[in-house]
Amino acid sequence: MSLHIEAKKGDIAETILLPGDPLRAKWIAETFFENLVCFNKIRNMYGYTGTYKGKRVSVMGTGMGAPSTIIYTHELITEYGVKNLIRVGSAGSYQEHVKIRDIVLAMAASSSSGINKLRFGGADYAPTASFDLFQKAVETARKKSIPLKAGNVFTSDEFYEDDFDSYKKWSKFGVLCVEMETAGLYTLAAKHHVNALTILTISDSLVTKESITSKERETTFKEMIEIALELA
Ligand code: ADE
Repeated sequence: MSLHIEAKKGDIAETILLPGDPLRAKWIAETFFENLVCFNKIRNMYGYTGTYKGKRVSVMGTGMGAPSTIIYTHELITEYGVKNLIRVGSAGSYQEHVKIRDIVLAMAASSSSGINKLRFGGADYAPTASFDLFQKAVETARKKSIPLKAGNVFTSDEFYEDDFDSYKKWSKFGVLCVEMETAGLYTLAAKHHVNALTILTISDSLVTKESITSKERETTFKEMIEIALELA
């Protein structure tokens, strides 16, 4: 047992899917896994291990934001030996060509978080995806004929910004969308020499102000999960 996870050593698979929402983790396990066992209920941050097409895989919520994500991923890597961490989340589009329901692979994550500025004495660090997982995700999507976009995403520390147009300074530099966890996840994976990839579904747009319905969210989410599970 670690501080925030009540699993025993060996209860968690080497590959784990990480949605922000713990109820989404439960839904993924109940919808896609066979032989599922719940390994965590501390703080209702549900975690399950099961099999998908015969391969052992886990899923667990991270909560919202880089600090919460870093706590759970630190314990998953250092206490439970997790090697492949795949975030499956939602994001807000920063670009006209990045439409609602699109699936985006985060190649890298810019951020407003101060964590890496402190860690690297004010210098920039570029948190990046695992090339291996990234390549496998692209191949899987191609085989399934699921269209993908890929590029730089923005990991924000704020959901409700003071200035709603501030996204434009990032969109001008090609950043595709905003979420709140990936820079923390990629940095921690690099620190511990393990693999991480973020797959996102666009749920809203800062450009057009549209947002997805909950029914649509489920359908699109399924395609993203199917790509993620093939990486196990
Ligand atoms: N996740 C989904 N939409 C988001 C947004 N607009 N800002 C931050 N995180 C998000």
